[in-house]
Amino acid sequence: MVLLNPGPVNVSERVRQALLRPDICHRESEFTELLHRIQNKLLKAFVPGAESEYVAVVMTGSGTATVEAALMSSLPHGRRMLILNNGVYGERMSQIIGLHRLGVSELKSDWTARPDPDKLLLALRQHQEVHAVAMVHHETTTGLLNPVQEIAEIVDSQNRVFVLDAVSALAGETIDIARSHIYMVTGTAGKCIQGFPGVSFVLVRKGFVEKMRAYPKRSWYLHLTHYIDDEGRGTIPFTPAVQVYYAFDEALSELLEEGVANRIQRYKQMAALIRDRMAKLGVKALLPPDRQSNTITAYYLPEGVSYQSLHDRLKAQGYVIYSGQGNLENKIFRVANMGALTAAQFVGFLDAFEQACKPV
Ligand SMILES: Cc1ncc(COP(=O)(O)O)c(C=O)c1O
Repeated sequence: MVLLNPGPVNVSERVRQALLRPDICHRESEFTELLHRIQNKLLKAFVPGAESEYVAVVMTGSGTATVEAALMSSLPHGRRMLILNNGVYGERMSQIIGLHRLGVSELKSDWTARPDPDKLLLALRQHQEVHAVAMVHHETTTGLLNPVQEIAEIVDSQNRVFVLDAVSALAGETIDIARSHIYMVTGTAGKCIQGFPGVSFVLVRKGFVEKMRAYPKRSWYLHLTHYIDDEGRGTIPFTPAVQVYYAFDEALSELLEEGVANRIQRYKQMAALIRDRMAKLGVKALLPPDRQSNTITAYYLPEGVSYQSLHDRLKAQGYVIYSGQGNLENKIFRVANMGALTAAQFVGFLDAFEQACKPV
């Protein structure tokens, strides 16, 4: 099955075979070595040249686990979080923060619009109680790319902490985490890194780690400094998904061999291939090109075609597309181009799509 959903993605045979390595105990040196390999590769891939300034915290769980861990671990008593919300994943961050009553009113934008930097600047000047700002890098809801660099500069100029959900962006979009002074970035194995779901991570700026130690513990499983302390000693607080870590390690080797910039370029080319053909077929994209990411395109459903029938006809040919969420359900469909897929597979999908849109 060719997966055109934004994770889990198709992985290479090499990554799949890594699942079959020997059973090991996570309290033994073999696991410590595996963990260190993963951490070193993460730093090399995502903060090249600034590896000594960041710590890579690895945890068993899906992307949401690391987003929740980053949000809850980054606030001192009595201070607040401001969320830039323009999609399902921004909304989820608001809900997490709301659950703990740690937020101020979020800055909401339309799902097809970018956050307004001027409004953020004003809000930060007005709300001194705001300690941190959180935003999604690539809103998977629509495939919209948020202006990370611009927002990071404002957050930094106002001496606040920036927490970035880059779960669907890392290895798919260009970002300079260290130069942008981003304190916390969350990611996951099972999207653009081309590993399996089940292991995720947070890159945390070292200078911030010492401050975090003084912040309240708001969760048992998701308290970041607990992981940082244990992982610093080569262990991990809870039982990890060892086999998924093996595959993650292999996927990171593949990424570094391909080169992060080349991976991003490959995704960009695959997205262009999809977009050119869809434009020729007259299928209308939800977003203008300058807001689109390299890895997801959201399209309005062609006239007279329901999502379910399109999905089912494509699935019967071996292709899985993805539905719209919230208000966009039954209005759009999404095509992701993450994963170990070739141009020929995308051409096969586009041929099948053209057939599926013809009346029966
Ligand atoms: C931007 C973003 N954040 C968070 C998540 C949540 O990840 P998970 O479903 O792995 O918990 C996703 C999932 O698609 C996402 O795209």
